[in-house]
Formats: sequence, C-alpha cells, structure tokens
Amino acid sequence: MITAKRMFQFRSAGGGAEIFNGGQLEGMERAAGTQEGEEGGEGKMRIEGLQAWYGKAEIIKGISLSVVKKKVTAIIGPSGCGKSTFIRCLNRMHEVVPKAYVAGKVFLDGVDIYDKKADPVRIRSRVGMVFQRPNPFPTMSIRENVLAGLRLNGTKVSRPNELVEQVLEQAALWGEVKDILNRSGASLSGGQQQRLCIARALALKPEILLMDEPCSALDPIATSRIEELIHSIGKICTIIIVTHNMQQAARVSHHTAFFYMGELVEHNDTDILFTKPSNQRTEDYITGRFG
Ligand SMILES: Nc1ncnc2c1ncn2[C@@H]1O[C@H](COP(=O)(O)OP(=O)(O)OP(=O)(O)O)[C@@H](O)[C@H]1O
Ligand SMILES: [Mg+2]
Repeated sequence: MITAKRMFQFRSAGGGAEIFNGGQLEGMERAAGTQEGEEGGEGKMRIEGLQAWYGKAEIIKGISLSVVKKKVTAIIGPSGCGKSTFIRCLNRMHEVVPKAYVAGKVFLDGVDIYDKKADPVRIRSRVGMVFQRPNPFPTMSIRENVLAGLRLNGTKVSRPNELVEQVLEQAALWGEVKDILNRSGASLSGGQQQRLCIARALALKPEILLMDEPCSALDPIATSRIEELIHSIGKICTIIIVTHNMQQAARVSHHTAFFYMGELVEHNDTDILFTKPSNQRTEDYITGRFG
C-alpha cells in the first residue's frame, strides 16, 4: 500500500456473512495489479456497462469494473462526477429515487442483482451502506441502533446481547459504550455515531460494505479511527469507499478507480494509479490541476 508520505513525495515531484477478527491491512496479501484490478484476487462484484439516469440526465455512462473480494476499492473523482450515484447502483438504492433508472449488469458472486428474480431487500443486506453524515436513529438507544437493520429486515436474533457486543467490538466502539448501551445513539460524538452506523451495517453481516465519504464530517482523530476500522473490517468484508481525500484513498485502499463525468477513466492498484497513472486526466486530477 502506498503511504501518504510516498504519495506526497511523488506529487511534490510533479509526477503526476461472517464478519470478524480485526487485524491490520499492512502485510495482507495484495492482489496483482491490472486495469481491472482482478488478477490475483477473486472478483466479488463485477459491473458491466452500468448506466444510470435521473430522469433524462445520464449520469453514469457505461461503467465496467471488477471489485476484488476482501480488498478495499476507492472511488475518486471531482464533485458531481457520479461517485455516489454509482455506489447506490451497487445495492439497488438508486432505483428508490423517483424517476431514477439503471441499465447494465452488476454481478454479485456471479449473479446479477438486477435480475428479475433478485430481491432488493436481500441485496441491500448483502451489500450494506454507510453514509457521509452519521445517521443513527435518534429515538433509539445505542443497543437498539445496532439491532435496527436486523429488526427492520424481520430477522430473528437468537442472542442479541452477544451480537451487540460482537459488532460494537468490530466497530471499535464497545469499550466506549459498553456501560451506556441504553443511552440514545444521538448522544454520541460524530465519530462515535459513525462507528455506531458501521456497527449497525456490520450486524447484517454484509459481504460488501459501501462507504460514501464516511469521514467527511469528522475531525482528523475520528477520521483516523475510521481508517483503522476500514483496515480491520477490510480483512473480512469487501469495501468500496468513495473519498475526496486522495491521501485517504492511498492509505486505505488496495485498488482505486478514477471517475470523470460519469465515466471510468482509470482503475488500477492504488500505488500504481497514484505513482504512474496511465491517463493524463488521472494525473491532472491527482496532482491537483483540477478537481
Ligand atoms: N436525486 C437526484 N436527482 C437529480 N439529479 C441528481 C440527484 N442526485 C444527484 N444528481 C446529479 O447527478 C450528478 C452526480 O451526482 P453524484 O451525487 O453522484 O456525484 P458525486 O460524484 O457523488 O459528487 P460529490 O463528490 O459532490 O458527492 C450530479 O450532476 C447531480 O446533480
Ligand atoms: Mg457524492
């Protein structure tokens, strides 16, 4: 994985489900780099010719991409290029917006999530999501928040206390909340609330976790805690993270995809994309010439 320091050196030179057990990403086996980011790693999700519209406006213009199992893929690109729209297509959330449409295929373990027989509710529990602003249910306690997704899905939990402890541990929040589980989720700090939302998503044992700028509302300390968390849960679950922060993409991801105006410009191993981009537009973006 490229370090922020190394990336800065490059930039200043002008160059261009079972969930669990924590652990550091460093030292994990890396997938060999290819444009598709797939060689040497198993494809968990394969996106083929994905298009998305809001009304008549085509926002995602035919994107194909493979996402490697149990690796972290970062999506970067200028504001408005379609990053959030794209990831919302990966768990059938886009179609919830009125007049929003999708075409193309998204294979999860080889099965198209847009197949007529696919159940969107089941897809959304297999492919969980964490948003930019922490959104715990304000009227629910910390404990109830963790169990909320399961209850909404109608899933019976045989040992809820154990599950609550397990996922709060995984979200690196247990130590801070174990004595206040009945307090409102809204009483926590922003960073704690975001970890609570991650715990709520993990309770569903997702195979893929989509994270849409999960740190943009957080201070640097809360951000670094979430990044540590990405390192540990990235070992047990595939992560796709949208970030505006290129140092963050460099720190947390194995693969990076650069989007521009609804198209995929380049997708590669993160260290290659940030040090030897093959496309001029990628180089211009990562070296701050536009954005
Ligand atoms: N609900 C909506 N209805 C209509 N247009 C929308 C809607 N949501 C997004 N768009 C448009 O789709 C385009 C892509 O938006 P999107 O939020 O996916 O971009 P983004 O890359 O995530 O941007 P940012 O980095 O600012 O979050 C923008 O032009 C935006 O105005
Ligand atoms: Mg966005």
